[in-house]
Amino acid sequence: MRVNALQHHVDETVTLQGWVYNKTGKGKLQFIQLRDGTGVCQAVVFKGNVTEEEFEEGKRLTQESSITLTGVVKAEPRAPGIPGGYELDVRALRIAQVAEEYPITPKEHGVEFLMANRHLWLRSSRQWAAMRVRAVIIRAIREWLDDHGFLNVDTPIITPAAAEGTTTLFKIDFHGEPAFLAQTGQLYNEANIFAFGRVYCFGPTFRAEKSKTRRHLQEFWMVEPEAAFCDLEQLMEIEEQFVAHIVQTCLRDCAPELKVLERDTTQLEQVSGSFPRLTYDEAVDRINAAAARGELVPGYEDPVPTIEWGDDFGSPHETYLAAQFEKPVFVHHYPTQVKAFYMEPEPGRPEVCRSVDLLAPEGYGEIIGGSERMSDPDKLLAAIRTHKLPEEVYQWYLDLRRYGSTPHSGFGLGVERTVAWICGLDHVRETIAFPRTLTTMRP
Ligand code: 4AD
Ligand code: MG
Repeated sequence: MRVNALQHHVDETVTLQGWVYNKTGKGKLQFIQLRDGTGVCQAVVFKGNVTEEEFEEGKRLTQESSITLTGVVKAEPRAPGIPGGYELDVRALRIAQVAEEYPITPKEHGVEFLMANRHLWLRSSRQWAAMRVRAVIIRAIREWLDDHGFLNVDTPIITPAAAEGTTTLFKIDFHGEPAFLAQTGQLYNEANIFAFGRVYCFGPTFRAEKSKTRRHLQEFWMVEPEAAFCDLEQLMEIEEQFVAHIVQTCLRDCAPELKVLERDTTQLEQVSGSFPRLTYDEAVDRINAAAARGELVPGYEDPVPTIEWGDDFGSPHETYLAAQFEKPVFVHHYPTQVKAFYMEPEPGRPEVCRSVDLLAPEGYGEIIGGSERMSDPDKLLAAIRTHKLPEEVYQWYLDLRRYGSTPHSGFGLGVERTVAWICGLDHVRETIAFPRTLTTMRP
């Protein structure tokens, strides 16, 4: 039996196995907060209900000691725990180990100490809750795509060339030949759509980002759907339905976790239907107008900085823009010069491309990047040359534009930024069990 199933077993005798999260008591009573990975349950050890020996054993328990408890499940609305409301009236107690003094106590610890002890920190309730929400997000991602005709086709991690710019590559030695860890599976997805129509890849991606921000990891998980015969407008429709499904699934299935995280879900509840759309041009105008009025970036003391047409947004720009809307907002038609080589330029206006980013509300920034892909072989070859990419290794990619080329589009959603947004966490290092940041790769 596990704690999250206790509600179905009131008045039955069950056995729980787990770890002591906390312990109090006096005289004839001991209260054990038992943590078993699915939740926390208060267990009450009354002297008359267990053997003399068991009661004495109970007194030796320290935080994180591993135990097996058998007892009767009681519905008790005031009982603390996760989800709470049920208590175990203990009839037998067995210790697996009395834990040594545990380094993480309920007092405040610095984040550096906690990161160094990440292997233990994961047991803490906020970390536990975030990882549980992450798993539900991943389930919802697969659910929606599998139900909407996207075939999961995995793409390689060892790759011969850059796909998202050459400045963030992790170089490896492939038996004497240089190779790189994948920054994206997109280029292979594009091959796969011509075999399967709609596909997605979902795996770890790698970026040697020099930026030490609360949104950047060196290793992160990205889901990338790609669809043939799909233009930019159709892509946005796919994205909004997909994101709404992820958010609504979390609200439905993660109530105890979101409560532990003290997440105010008011704004998340708005995430359904269609999302507002803004061109990059309109976004620049809005930003510069706000800067001229001396407006502050919501949640910060700093004024909205101006932006020059043609520059990429900084995170204060994204935060300001997203705060103008209740729901996530699409910004589309970015300048071609700030985006990747493969994006389709707008016909008649090649200085912008058919790209779209989705910005999350509440300051969480870009969670999705996507675009319509260049479908003409000659234009694509020219773009590869402009970006000074090695032509030979992209021959197969050009082939895709020679045999049945069609408008096609796709996007990538970053799992960690999505977890940060849905959980209300202010740094991506708490959105993955063992984060890899510019400064951390241990434990
Ligand atoms: O905008 P990006 O770089 O897009 C691509 O890689 C495309 N090839 C995707 C596609 O069209 N198939 O990355 C997509 C998303 C971002 O919006 C962000 O959520 C996340 O991946 N991301 C990162 N997350 C954490 N740390 C980093 N260093 C990230 N870089 C991108
Ligand atoms: Mg991007």
